[in-house]
Amino acid sequence: MTTVAIIGGGKIGEALLAGLVAGGVHPHDIRVANRRAERGRELSNRYGVKVFTDSAEAVWHADVVFLCVKPHHIVGVLEDIRDTIDSNDQETSVVSLAAGITLRAMEEALSAGTPIARVMPNTPMLVRKGVCALTPGRHLGAEQEAQIIKLLQMVGVVVPVAEKHLDAVTAVAGSSPAYMYLVVEAMIDSGIALGLDYATSRQLVEGSLAGAMAMLQETGQSPAELRANVSSPAGTTIAALRSLEESGVRGAFFRATDACAKRSREIGQQMQ
Ligand SMILES: NC(=O)c1ccc[n+]([C@@H]2O[C@H](COP(=O)([O-])OP(=O)(O)OC[C@H]3O[C@@H](n4cnc5c(N)ncnc54)[C@H](OP(=O)(O)O)[C@@H]3O)[C@@H](O)[C@H]2O)c1
Repeated sequence: MTTVAIIGGGKIGEALLAGLVAGGVHPHDIRVANRRAERGRELSNRYGVKVFTDSAEAVWHADVVFLCVKPHHIVGVLEDIRDTIDSNDQETSVVSLAAGITLRAMEEALSAGTPIARVMPNTPMLVRKGVCALTPGRHLGAEQEAQIIKLLQMVGVVVPVAEKHLDAVTAVAGSSPAYMYLVVEAMIDSGIALGLDYATSRQLVEGSLAGAMAMLQETGQSPAELRANVSSPAGTTIAALRSLEESGVRGAFFRATDACAKRSREIGQQMQ
């Protein structure tokens, strides 16, 4: 039995919490802290977890603490929970899910030797289809790392990465579900512009994108091969693809991910 504390039950905290409960962690083994008691009550009613308004109380006897607060709150929360973590019987691992905050900044706010890790998650954790990139800190033991991976695998795929790549991970995984929702919105609107009603357009777009992703994952073919397979000479698909290329879609993604990674780096630097 692993006792988990989640500090910050917002969008990411709730996604993690929901995934862990669905993955088999007993709600009584999950302790969630929010400053607002009403948000705690909401989460307690929805999932049956134990809720707190004091982060230090929430981490008492926890094996793993997941920090799901905004980056500018991380250091303050670490200072609030440090003494309790030091006094716990077991060695408590502290895992930050925040963009930008480095292992070094976390180490400085905690007692020397505290096992820590950074994870860059994304919100599909809520439906157990998240992607979590994990960077262990130097004091995280193999067993503690395995324990964290086991928990995160309940909410999706875990990919080990070096810390220097976490800003890039934020750009292509942490923030990317939002880009996809924008693409979906645009395609639904395109269907409406062509005369379909909203419900029909949405059903067609969602089904097509889900099918395209399943083909990508199940055939093992590259995206370029799959795209070429559906582009007949002088056909309809190549006409659309030409228009997308002329509109600079590929460049738009390079620029967007660049902006995202840059912002992630800036957030980290502001916190130092
Ligand atoms: N959203 C995403 O798609 C995404 C993706 C990857 C990574 N992340 C990272 O995940 C973290 C959380 O983001 P989010 O989108 O979930 O933010 P959010 O929805 O604003 O949630 C943050 C939560 O933290 C709570 N909180 C703030 N200060 C606290 C404190 N001192 N003690 C306890 N709880 C506190 C807030 O509730 P109260 O006001 O009630 O305390 C709020 O529920 C961020 O660091 C972000 O970089 C987010």
